[in-house]
Amino acid sequence: MKMKQTIRKLLNELDALLVAHFYQRDEIVEIADLSGDSLELARKASQSEKSKIIFCGVGFMGQSVKILAPNKRVFMPRIACCSMARMIDCSYFDKSIAELKEYGIPEVFPITYINSNAEVKAKVAELGGVVCTSSNAAKILDFALKQNKKIFFLPDYCLGQNLAAKNGLKSAVLGVDSKRQVQEADVICYNGFCSVHQLFTPQDIDFYRAKYPEILIAVHPECRPDVVEKADFVGSTSQIIQFVQGLEESQKVAVGTEFNLVNRLRKPVNGVQNTFVLSSTKPECPTMNETTLQDVLKCLESIKANQPINEILLEESVAKKAKQALDKMLELS
Ligand code: 13P
Ligand code: SF4
Repeated sequence: MKMKQTIRKLLNELDALLVAHFYQRDEIVEIADLSGDSLELARKASQSEKSKIIFCGVGFMGQSVKILAPNKRVFMPRIACCSMARMIDCSYFDKSIAELKEYGIPEVFPITYINSNAEVKAKVAELGGVVCTSSNAAKILDFALKQNKKIFFLPDYCLGQNLAAKNGLKSAVLGVDSKRQVQEADVICYNGFCSVHQLFTPQDIDFYRAKYPEILIAVHPECRPDVVEKADFVGSTSQIIQFVQGLEESQKVAVGTEFNLVNRLRKPVNGVQNTFVLSSTKPECPTMNETTLQDVLKCLESIKANQPINEILLEESVAKKAKQALDKMLELS
């Protein structure tokens, strides 16, 4: 209790906004000024009136706020990394573009999932591309399709293939599928993925449906295409929350996304649990789980002492280019 009060006091004193992604521990979400999905956090934190943002999430999220609001100071109590974002960097991006050229595809329209670092977003902007999140990906795809080029979707092959399937488009994964499949695809995906969402399988869905025939299945679009295909609802973290909270109390639902979020969704009714995690293995995002109240306090105290830790600083030229791709996304969503 004492620690939470000290944190609130310091936030006020330092003109700082505490922001938490939905996958953060309960103790962080409970005390945050703002919690949300990647899109909401990027938009609302960058537009807030506060001069400092204390971002509890993973690296690309803090970076996105800094890119969108370069005049704000952004700090992360823990510089935690999204393992998917780390699957691509500038050299892999260049290598992929070169490989596409060798395949006879000289030009693509790149879309990068927001789960990528600032340098990759800048590369995408250089080729005229745009960023998307899980909640606006459909709108971004509509825009991309009007550019009349093949789409190169990175880094998450699952989100890319799920989007393509929903729109009746052909997709292929670079480095996995054959040259011919890549050449024939409308959406060519980079071979990145989220290790947490890979835990959910079609067998998990079969298991729950056999046990509770009336159950609904809600999953995040980072899940494998064969999982998404079998689900009743697919959406971003915010959209999943809205969906589940809109259900009748007694409606059973199994949810395929990170544990902290699912665990907070609904309390048992008369001792009966109606909300399940769609996996026998606990789907915890290890890096999202790193941040503690202690870290938040330490971060605020370091700012007060004028020896700030974990401030997000970006090279100006990279940030400027990355901003073009993020601004375009906000304009379209
Ligand atoms: P959302 O944009 O849906 O919050 O997803 C972010 C994320 O990293 C999911 O794993
Ligand atoms: Fe990244 Fe997956 Fe964690 Fe989301 S759940 S932050 S995609 S590693």
